[in-house]
Formats: sequence, structure tokens, C-alpha cells
Amino acid sequence: MSSEPISGNHRIILFLLPFLCLIVHSYSQSDQLQILLKFKSTLQNSKSEVFNTWHGENLICNFTGIVCNSDNLVKEINLSEQQLAGTLPFDSICSLKSLEKISLGSNNLYGTVSSHISNCTNLQYLDLGINSFSGELPDLSSLIQLKFLNLNLSGFSGSFPWKSIENHTNLTFLSLGDNPFDRTPFPLEILNFRQLYSLYLTNCSIEGRIPEEIGNLNLLESLEISDNYLVGEIPVGITKLTKLRMLELYNNQLSGIIPVGIRNLVNLAEFDVSTNNLEGDLSELRNLTRMESLQLFENNFSGTIPEEFGEFKFLTQFSIYDNKFTGELPAKIGSWADFEYIDVSQNFLTGPIPPDMCKMGKMQKLLMLENNFTGGLPETYASCLSLLRLRVSNNSLSGRVPDGIWSLPNLGMIDLAINQFEGQVAPTIGQAKSLSQLFLANNRFSGEVPAEISNVSSLVEIELISNQFSGEIPSGIGNLKKLSKLHLQDNIFSGAIPESLGSCVSLNEIILAGNSFSGQIPATLGSLPTLNSLNLSGNKLSGLIPASLSKLKLSLIDVSNNMLMGPVPQGLLIVAYNGSFAGNPGLCADGNKDLRQCSPVPKKSDQLKVAVYCFIAGALLLVLSLSCFVFLKFRQHDHKDPIYRSHSWDVKKFHVLNISEDEILKSLKQENIIGKGGSGNVYKVVLGGGEQLAVKHMWKFVPESGGRSSAAILPKGKSRWPEYEAEVAALSSLRHMNVVKLYCSISSEDSNLLVYEYMPNGNLWDQLHTYQKIEMDWNVRYEIALGAARGLEYLHHACDRPVIHRDVKSSNILLDEEMKPKIADFGLAKIVQTGKAMNSTHVIAGTHGYIAPEYGYTYNVTEKSDIYSFGVVLMELVTGKKPVEPEFGENRDIVYWVHNEMRTKDDVTALVDPSITKDAKEEAVKMLSIAGHCTMKIPALRPSMRMVVKMLEEIEPNSLTDIVIDKMGENVISQCKS
Ligand SMILES: *[C@@H]1O[C@H](CO)[C@@H](O)[C@H](O)[C@H]1NC(C)=O
Ligand SMILES: *[C@@H]1O[C@H](CO)[C@@H](O)[C@H](O)[C@H]1NC(C)=O
Ligand SMILES: *[C@@H]1O[C@H](CO)[C@@H](O)[C@H](O)[C@H]1NC(C)=O
Repeated sequence: MSSEPISGNHRIILFLLPFLCLIVHSYSQSDQLQILLKFKSTLQNSKSEVFNTWHGENLICNFTGIVCNSDNLVKEINLSEQQLAGTLPFDSICSLKSLEKISLGSNNLYGTVSSHISNCTNLQYLDLGINSFSGELPDLSSLIQLKFLNLNLSGFSGSFPWKSIENHTNLTFLSLGDNPFDRTPFPLEILNFRQLYSLYLTNCSIEGRIPEEIGNLNLLESLEISDNYLVGEIPVGITKLTKLRMLELYNNQLSGIIPVGIRNLVNLAEFDVSTNNLEGDLSELRNLTRMESLQLFENNFSGTIPEEFGEFKFLTQFSIYDNKFTGELPAKIGSWADFEYIDVSQNFLTGPIPPDMCKMGKMQKLLMLENNFTGGLPETYASCLSLLRLRVSNNSLSGRVPDGIWSLPNLGMIDLAINQFEGQVAPTIGQAKSLSQLFLANNRFSGEVPAEISNVSSLVEIELISNQFSGEIPSGIGNLKKLSKLHLQDNIFSGAIPESLGSCVSLNEIILAGNSFSGQIPATLGSLPTLNSLNLSGNKLSGLIPASLSKLKLSLIDVSNNMLMGPVPQGLLIVAYNGSFAGNPGLCADGNKDLRQCSPVPKKSDQLKVAVYCFIAGALLLVLSLSCFVFLKFRQHDHKDPIYRSHSWDVKKFHVLNISEDEILKSLKQENIIGKGGSGNVYKVVLGGGEQLAVKHMWKFVPESGGRSSAAILPKGKSRWPEYEAEVAALSSLRHMNVVKLYCSISSEDSNLLVYEYMPNGNLWDQLHTYQKIEMDWNVRYEIALGAARGLEYLHHACDRPVIHRDVKSSNILLDEEMKPKIADFGLAKIVQTGKAMNSTHVIAGTHGYIAPEYGYTYNVTEKSDIYSFGVVLMELVTGKKPVEPEFGENRDIVYWVHNEMRTKDDVTALVDPSITKDAKEEAVKMLSIAGHCTMKIPALRPSMRMVVKMLEEIEPNSLTDIVIDKMGENVISQCKS
């Protein structure tokens, strides 16, 4: 206080001061109210009830989520996890001058963050994480007070404005991970943030090395830079971060050893360096006794597991699979805390399974496959009620399996395959409420499969291959409605195959080969809707082959080496099943070279026989086959082509074109064949008026030995009738410049002709992968990609009822004279019924290399499966490679290869077809990343076809917007009948 006497003027001001304050105050009260009500109104889409208190009669400081300072000025907005939807009006929010905290994480906010945020200069806490924003973040340099910045998983892209926060030295918490930012080297600005205790930069496109100076951030307790493109060694500087509790660097390309000095990080509880290229041993981790979770999988680590790990009192998660570890596991590992899982698979470990990992009753997964463990399965696990997965396959384990194991109530998978286990499967298995996979192959199990197994209704796969199981298949097996695979081959099972097997409606594979089954093949098997392979070979089955089996769409049937009798049902006599019936002297079939004739041979069929022999010889010898064709041509002169013999032709026209069916039929000659497709021969027909047409001829049964380009999973030679109908149904109502035009169909009793527009440049597969290929520059490839995408978009979106193609592949994308693409071959297409949910179909349709992974476990057909296949086509276009190539590795395909290379390679342009010019490579890489989206494992993460078209348009080489609009306009006006 001043000792000066107070002058009159001063006194007045002093007197007025509270009053003035009041005016300023109430002014800003109404101001603040306006701002908050505007905030509320821009978020009015929200389902949230949080705004119920936000109205004029209430004090703003009483609004839910609002905190005021002592002057009643808004200091905090706390509305995280409130289901808020909408854009944020930063222009008004940031005129709240006292605002220090915005907490809006975990909502559904979208749109961009405007540069008005720079007026929030007092902001200390900003949380916008887990939202759906878009675009780049603006300059943040004026938010110099920031201590807490969380933008994790918020949708921001572009480059993060690192430079603008270089002086934000108050930051203690920084989380920017899981955003699609542009690639950036490690941002050195971070090294200024000496107050940081938590840094989360996982999955935000950081490349290059981690700087040694990271060691200066010595308050860090949590450091996560996983899922990036980091290379080089883990810097020794990290060993200075002695406060670290959590260090996560997984899924990078880090190499070298775990740096010496990590032993100093005595507080470390979570350490995850999995999926890198690290090597060396684990001795540095020996004394980190606070360790709770240790994730070292998918590296090149070697050496033994330190004995000290057995004394880690807090360890609950231990995953070191796919390394080169040797020696034994510490006996007491996992026996102290609430241990959850161990995964030491794919190493060279030896010795016994540690017995006490489920001591606390919390263990969920015991995964020790592909090692060299010995001894038995410890009795202790028989009471491990928490266990979900038990996998010890491919070791040298032996002895009896404790009875209690079979009945564990939560266990979903028992995988004991490839060991030396013996004894029986206990009847208690009937209580295994969750068991879906039972893998016991290649052991010494014996005895009968207990009847109680029929109670395990959750079973999906049973593999008992190569054991000494005996007795009959329990007759109650028909209760297993989810059973998809039944593999019992190479045991000593006997008795009849139970009729009730035909009630296992999900069965996909039945393999009973190499047993002593006797009696007849149950006719009920013919009603299994999804059966794909049936192998009953090498048994003692007798009687007739049930005719019902011809109804199945089997890719494999093998009943060879039994004692079956009588005629092979007509529907099974197709080339694909050659050899399937051998070793059954009692079987016969007329006109089949491998089987005895059933009836005496009538003389008239001699000619046919000649033709058959000629056909066989032709397949073997080119010369002979040529002469065979000549012979056949002669026959044509005498008897006309078999197609021509049919009397009544039914013609349906879908487009206006003057076609005479006579003219077409006359042109179906050997010399006009331009392709042998999955469904029949394709002929080129030139009409009198010069119009060129392509005519597909579909037989009732196709004696065909292989597709032109790829192995369709749909068995060869099956009846093509349903495909014909599907094709006509799908195509007759479609009109789009990128969908092949079906002019008409001509059908008779035994033949069908589909008349299409002729596509002079063949198909994309041939152009990319065969000797017919021509150099396609980037513009051509781009136009093919975009056109094909538009065709598919049309199928999926333009009609009331979406058409799912189900066999999208490069050989089904045809090219016209200008190389414009058109989607073709609708033989497997499904028209989705309106009102009904996406129907599950019971056949795995499609082509190897293009089939979406969800087909493996569901038969649900959705547009997203087409989108996956289209992603594969994009990958072919960019890389020039086929969907399956030996260089991708065993059981790997182009999708695996591209995803893996994009993740691990610095220079992604190396994936681009070398014939694409250098200046186009960047665009090609962008297309590859669209392909990556399309081929995401989880269908829901794949974009819609509409989205794919948009993304492709964005990378158009010479962007011509008006053409784009023009083409879209056509989509709209194209009509869809019924
Ligand atoms: C504000 O909230 C307090 C405590 O909940 C309550 O007592 C007071 O009446 C409220 N004021 C108004 C104007 O609603
Ligand atoms: C910041 O606020 C001032 C006045 O309060 C205003 O004139 C200016 O336009 C604002 N700037 C931004 C970027 O919103
Ligand atoms: C950070 O501070 C330095 C030194 O005062 C200054 O030159 C620089 O412009 C500041 N950076 C930003 C983004 O404000």
C-alpha cells in the first residue's frame, strides 16, 4: 500500500471500481452465453443430453461441463465422451479469453480445425483425440502455454506443424499417434520438451532414426513410437530415461541389439520391441524385476531365456514367438502374478512346459508350438478354467493328456498335433462348452472317440489324422451343426459312416481316407449344402455311389480303393474327377476311358469312341490334336456342329441390334474360337453388316481341363446352367459403359449362347501377364483402373438391388479397341434381394489370389469382397505381377507382399512395374495405397466402390474435371430394369 494520501480522483475511481467490474462482468456474461449457445447449436446433431442444462435461465458456470474461474469467466470446457457430433466453432470458442482447457476427446467431431484456434492463447490443455476430424492442423505457435496436447486418433492428415510448436517447452503430455500424417523424419522439435512425461507417436508415419538426444527427455515415463518406419539401432541415449515405465517401439525396422544400459531402466514394466529386426540375447533385461509385459516376438533374438525371468513377481504377459531362442524356460516363470499368457512359439526351446503359469487362475493362452519341448502336459493345467487357447503342436511332448483338459469350459482350441501324446480322448469332452477346434493329428492317441463329443455343439474343426483311433464315428455326430472340417484319415476307424453326418449342415471337408469304414456311402451326404471336398478313399465301402452326390459342387471327390459297385452317377463323370473312382473293380460308366462299360457297347457308338480316343491323344500330342481338329471339321460337314442339331431356339434380345441367330450359329466354328473360358468357348462372329460380336457357348457339362488363366475354385466341368442364368439375370438389365454389353441370349435344351459386344483387345490379364501383352503406359493403366472401378461402382450402387460380381479379376476385365475396360463374366454374380440381409451363399466362389479372407470363415457375400478382389487387380496394374507368384513366398499372395513391402521398404516405388516411366511412379504408388485400403483384412475397413472411384479420381494424371462430371452424369442416367 502506498503511503501517499489518496487524492479525490482516485477516491472516485476506487468507489466506482466494484460497479465497473460488475458492468464488464455482466457484459461478458451475456457474451459468454452467446458463445456457448452457438457452440451448442453447431453440435445440435448430437444425441447427447449434456446440453439440457445449457439454456439462458441457467448460469453459464452451472452448464454441464463448464468450469469458471473466480471471476465467473469460462476456464474449462470438459465434454469428452459425450457423443457430440458436428464441427467446432473455434472462432467463437477462442474469444473466451480465459479459456485454459478444452477437453472434447472421444466424440464424433468432424471437419477441420480452423486457424482461429490461434486466438486460444491461454490454452494449457487441448484434447481432441478420438474424433473424426480431417485436413491439416493449423499453426499452433500462439498456444505457447500448452502443457497437454492430445490429438491421438483424430483423423488429422497432412504434415503436422512441428515447427510451430518448437518453443512449447511447457508440454508435459504429447500424443499425436494414429493419424494419417505425411511421412516425416523424427521431429527434432520434440527434444525441446524437457518437461515431457508422456510421448505417444505410434502410427504417425515417422521414418529414419530415433535421435540419441531422446535421452535428454529424462522425465519420460512413457515413450511410444511403434508402428512407424524407424530404422537403425535403438539409441543408447534411451538408457538415460530411468523413469520409464513403458517403452514401446514395436513394428518398425529397428536393428542391432537391445542397447547396453537398458538394465538401468529399473522401473520398466512394459517393454515392447516386437516385429523389428533386433538380435542378440536378453541379458540386459535380466534385472528388470518390475517387468509386467514383455513383447519381443518377431525378431532375430537368440540365446537362452534368463533364469531371473522366473523370479519376476509382476510378469503377466510374455510373448517371444518367432525368434531363435534356445534352452529351457525358467521353471517358475509366470507363477507369481495374475499371469495371462505365454507365447514362445517358433523358437528352438527345449525341456518341460513350466507347470505353474496358471497358478493364479487367470491364464488365458498357453502357446508353445513349433519348439522342441519334451515331457508331458502338466496336470496343473487340467484345472485352469480361464484357459482359452492351448497350443503345443509340433514339439516332442508325450504321455497321457490329463483328463480335465478335455472339459475346460472356456477352451476354444486344443492343439496337440505333431507330438507323441498317447491315451484316449476322455468322455468328459462332452462338457467342453467352448471348444471349436480339436487338433490331435500325428500323435499316438488310441481308443474310440467318445460318444459325448456329439454334445460339443461349438465344434468347427476336428482333425484326428494319423493316430490309432478305432471304433465307429459316434452316431450323434449330426448334432454338430457348426462342424466344417472332419479329418479322420489314417486311423483304424471302422463300421459304417453314420447317416447323421448328413445333418452336419456346415460341413465343408470330409476326409475319412485310409481307415476301415464299411457299408454304403450315406445318401444323406448329398444334401450337405457347403460340402467342397469328400475323400473316402482307401476304406472298405461297398454298394452303389448315391446319385445324390452329383448335386454337390465338389472341388474334390475321392472314393478310390474301396469296394463300390455299379454305375458311377452321371453327374460325377467329369474330367475334374478323373481317378476319383479308381480301384473299385465293381464300378462302371459308359463312355469313360478309366472305367468299365456298364452296358454292352452298341455298334453305333464306334464313331464316338474314335472321337474320344482322338480327344485324349490330342491332349497328349500336338500333332495328333491338329489332325483331330481336321477330322472334327470334316465331321462338321457331314453332321453339322452338335450345337446346330438342336431344334428350337429361344432368343431374348436386350439391346437393339439386327442379329439373326442363324448367322450366329453358322459362325460357331473351330477357327473362330477366341477363348476358352471358365464357362465355355468364346467365338468371334462377324455379321454381314460388319458388326463384330463375341459369342459365348455354354454346354450343359463342360469337358474342360483348365481355365485359361487361373484356377477357379469352383470345380471345373460343373453344370454351367446356374451360371448362365446368373449371367443373363445380371447382365440383361445393366447398362454402363464399363460393363460389357449383352446383346441377346439364345438358348435351347442343351446349349446356351450369350451374344456380347466384341472386345478386340482381349482381357487385362493377358495384356499384363502373357506373351500377348503390350506396353501399357501409366495413363492407359490409370484409365483401366478408373473405368473398371466405375463399372463396379455402378454394379454396387446404381441399381435398387446391388449386383455383387463375386469373381472380379483381371481376366474378367475386357478391353475395347481404345483400351477402355468393361467388366465381364457375371457367371457367379449375385443380385442382392431387397429387404433381405446379405444372403449367405453356400459355395466358395471366386478365383485363387482374388478371394477376400473373410471367405475363409464366413460365406457372407458382400460388396466388400468384390472390393478386395478389385484391390488385387489394382496391385496387378501397378506392380505388373500376378496375384500369386513364387517370389511372394509359400502360401503368400500379392496382397501380403504389397502390404509387407509397403510397411518395411523405404522406397516403395521399387514395387512399381519397371516399365512404368519414372515420372509416373509416384502416382502409381498412390494407386498402390488405394489398393492397400481395398485389401484390408477387415471388410468394414475397406472403402466402398464409390469411395474408391473418388480416390482414383483424385490421383488422375492430367486432371480433367469436366470429363469426370460427364462420366458421373452417365451413371445417373443409365437405367436399371427390374
Ligand atoms: C447453480 O448450481 C447450484 C449448485 O448445483 C445451485 O444451487 C444453483 O441454484 C444453480 N444456479 C442456477 C441459477 O441455476
Ligand atoms: C483473434 O481475435 C481478434 C479479436 O479478439 C480478432 O480480431 C482476430 O480476427 C482473431 N483472429 C483469429 C485468427 O481468429
Ligand atoms: C521460437 O523462439 C525463437 C527464439 O526466441 C524464435 O526465433 C522463433 O521464431 C520461435 N518460434 C516460433 C514458432 O514462434
